Amino acid sequence: MDKKRILTGDRPTGRLHIGHYFGSLKTRLEMQENPEYDPFILIADVQALTDNFNNPEKVRKNVREVAIDYLSVGIDPNKTTIYIQSMIPETAELTIFYSNLVTIARLQRNPTVKTEIAQKKELFGESVTYGFLGYPVSQAADITTFEGELVPVGEDQEPLIEQCREIVRKFNSIYGEGILKEPKAVLSKSKRIKGLDGNEKMGKSLGNAIYLSDSEEEITKKVMSAVTDPNRIKKDDLGNPDVCMVAYYHNLFTAKEDVKTVCEECKAGKRGCVACKKQLAANIIEELRPIREKRAYYETHPEEVDKILIEGTEKARTVAKETMKKVKDAMMLNYFD
Ligand code: TRP
Repeated sequence: MDKKRILTGDRPTGRLHIGHYFGSLKTRLEMQENPEYDPFILIADVQALTDNFNNPEKVRKNVREVAIDYLSVGIDPNKTTIYIQSMIPETAELTIFYSNLVTIARLQRNPTVKTEIAQKKELFGESVTYGFLGYPVSQAADITTFEGELVPVGEDQEPLIEQCREIVRKFNSIYGEGILKEPKAVLSKSKRIKGLDGNEKMGKSLGNAIYLSDSEEEITKKVMSAVTDPNRIKKDDLGNPDVCMVAYYHNLFTAKEDVKTVCEECKAGKRGCVACKKQLAANIIEELRPIREKRAYYETHPEEVDKILIEGTEKARTVAKETMKKVKDAMMLNYFD
């Protein structure tokens, strides 16, 4: 039986944080153990440039940071192919062919793109670039270059997969039924992790994230700054764990019975926030310790990271060439065959 190809990816614009850890990284770790799946992870440097074209150093640096984050959490290059997007020229070629199959109005209506453009007023001013508006086209090419069947995504990415499916249907209706595979989005079960400040989203631009690469001191400092119940001023004030970010993270990092004690003591005014934060910081530090240790190893062995990326990219390229051959045959661009 052919294995199902699974495509996931990240824009390398920053290191990965515990939001990624409980979200996409856990999903990918599970998927790589499933014998029915053949997972690919792309480090989407081309896509990262669509909103960081003026900052190539940032993208370059984070390609390796993100690769090290993957390896540190246990993404196994023998089970998962990790590759760099810009090193697959077939994807860029496919993006150009697809650009005929999608209208500008349709891209402007894409909810994901619309939201992002609104957030990027500072970069784009009144008029967005052709590259950014078109990144869903490029993402459709990412997926279909590898005949990706399943794309595990968060809700915010769903419209991109829908757009990809439309492009595939249009391509097949013109150039031949069944040439390209329509991917399916698999909605991630894992919930989105809130930021230290209580924001619904943990993110680098929001400055409210704990990174997998943070040192013990950084983790402690960040936990100390987490938002707690604003109505609790003195230790013997009765606390409300439901509005406390420290209680929220205890649920993620602390054993169930201990969480119960933490919350009961907080509600009874018997537990101070500082003690509570110290306990949480210690638990986060412990949970992330093996990741930090693996990270330290790869940081001092950059040649191993490079080798993994080179081999992954080579494997990805072989698949990409096969797809491109099919596409060019179907589009009658095979002049001298
Ligand atoms: N859009 C994704 C993000 O912002 C990254 C990405 C690029 C991707 N190409 C992809 C994800 C293909 C899944 C499949 O994180």
